[in-house]
Amino acid sequence: MSGLPSLSDRTPTLRATCDIGVTGRNLRWTPDDAHVTIVDVRLNCRVNAEPNREPRDRTTDRTTDLLARLHADLRRARFTVGALQALWGTAAAAALHRGERVPARRVLEARRAEHGSSADLATLAELFVLGLPVPADDVARALPELGVDAGAELGLIARRGPSVVASLDLRPYAFTDARGSGEWWILSDLGELAIEGPLGEQHVLGVGGASMTLAGLMLPTPARSVLDLGTGCGIQAMHASRFADRVVATDISERALKLAGMNLELNGIEGVELRLGSLYEPVAGERFDRIVSNPPFVITPRVAGVPEYDYRDGGMVGDELVESVIRAAGDHLEPGGVAQLLANWEYAGDRDGLARAAEWAGGLDHWIVEREVQHVTEYAETWIRDGGTRPGTEAFGRLYTAWLDDFEARGVDRVGFGYVLLRRRDAADVATRASGSAGQARVERLHGPLGDVGAGLGGHLVECLVAHDRQSSLSDAELAAIRLTVAGDITEERHYWPGDDDPTAMLLRQGGGFARSVVLDTGLAALVGACDGELAVGAIIAALAQLLEVDESALAAELLPAARALIDDGMLLLPSE
Ligand SMILES: C[S@@+](CC[C@H](N)C(=O)[O-])C[C@H]1O[C@@H](n2cnc3c(N)ncnc32)[C@H](O)[C@@H]1O
Repeated sequence: MSGLPSLSDRTPTLRATCDIGVTGRNLRWTPDDAHVTIVDVRLNCRVNAEPNREPRDRTTDRTTDLLARLHADLRRARFTVGALQALWGTAAAAALHRGERVPARRVLEARRAEHGSSADLATLAELFVLGLPVPADDVARALPELGVDAGAELGLIARRGPSVVASLDLRPYAFTDARGSGEWWILSDLGELAIEGPLGEQHVLGVGGASMTLAGLMLPTPARSVLDLGTGCGIQAMHASRFADRVVATDISERALKLAGMNLELNGIEGVELRLGSLYEPVAGERFDRIVSNPPFVITPRVAGVPEYDYRDGGMVGDELVESVIRAAGDHLEPGGVAQLLANWEYAGDRDGLARAAEWAGGLDHWIVEREVQHVTEYAETWIRDGGTRPGTEAFGRLYTAWLDDFEARGVDRVGFGYVLLRRRDAADVATRASGSAGQARVERLHGPLGDVGAGLGGHLVECLVAHDRQSSLSDAELAAIRLTVAGDITEERHYWPGDDDPTAMLLRQGGGFARSVVLDTGLAALVGACDGELAVGAIIAALAQLLEVDESALAAELLPAARALIDDGMLLLPSE
């Protein structure tokens, strides 16, 4: 996946799975906007403005027409990630990734006379990506189908004297998933640079680092139905629509649903239903094959004077929002269904955060990966800056104190971030499991960089889940009869004391997925080395027992669980079925 760099996005990205630019935080939403009603939604999207009611079609033909005209203009101007990067070059693009628009602006200004056929692209870039005022005549030329007045009617731009300014952030977003590459245009609220101040509390986020992390984690396999809880600008629903027959996208923010509807319409994406309401309220009594959520998990002090941003703050104390999303997920999953979310969890003294997250999963199979832990001081600084409050100001100090008071009141010293995958077991699955495991309960700390995950980590997750289900359905005798192979991205690393013939340490390294490294002892190194698909695991173990002069069943008792773990990690492969 790749996107256009952000002007201001500073959301911690849980180490994004792909080398992608991020789109920014957006416009300040004025109180007047609070009265916006959901009328501007796409032909194929229905918005249920009242929770638990049948969705109603609220599309207006006028909005559909305006978005179609905007689509035509963006296409004509080649408003794409690649064209923009070519326009301002790599150094300016890199500066944009760091939140600096000055180099891109200078490049555009210096080349103004030579833009030629790219003149309209440059205008759209200045207006929507850099958030600068642009002469109205230039905008009229760049948007010939839509026009300035209709653009204003759409809520996209506004006249300011002889110039036009963006009222929304609009930028291209490119991605690659298991179905191939694609590019969309994403509308969201303007970021801090464009509004030149802190974000409004009802700000609707564009595609940020966390959005792309979750999009990359999404299982890229067909599903009948997907719920996107907290859809924001609609990005997860858009990705899910590539694999699902039906997507329901919910949000507590009417404005978010309005922008999500516009994004679906602008990009011609069908089969997504938008519903208004909190958490699972809009889908009460319904179950889905998949749930995806980048929930508003940011821990925020509940005291006066601390902004409560819709896009990141679910209005609960500590990590209770994440707990509620996880605890209720099972009620909304079909048997065999999978929920995937980004989350954080508090550590308080000897109360282990990751263990608490696992507890919330209750009876669901779970695979929870902690990617990062921050001390509460670092956490507070990150999220205060994210809202646009500058360090060194009185406001920053006041908010910092509120955050630390809040953590102290619960004895919290650190906050973990990570990926949560929950599976509602299928009764048939459980019956076929032979390894004695009641289900998958996997909790791990993988704080290092990810491997090369190509079209996203989701493909790797699917392979690991399938492999786990297969290996856990095999008895030890059945596993011993199987011929395993080593995954193509695995290498072995050996370390020697200078002059020694025998290695002091041996490691298996994974090139893709979570870039795991596994320490090998002699027996496991020999087993993995012999897994070339020719010999069954049991035969390799028997030969090794002879060679190492050890008891064969004792060696099997050691190596078979280790082989199962390597299968779960995607490092050893079962034969294809
Ligand atoms: C972090 S943003 C995620 C947006 C988008 N899904 C993404 O991945 O970029 C969280 C979203 O949850 C919404 N939200 C906040 N509180 C909510 C609640 N109680 N129920 C449902 N959605 C909520 C916010 O309005 C926001 O759009």
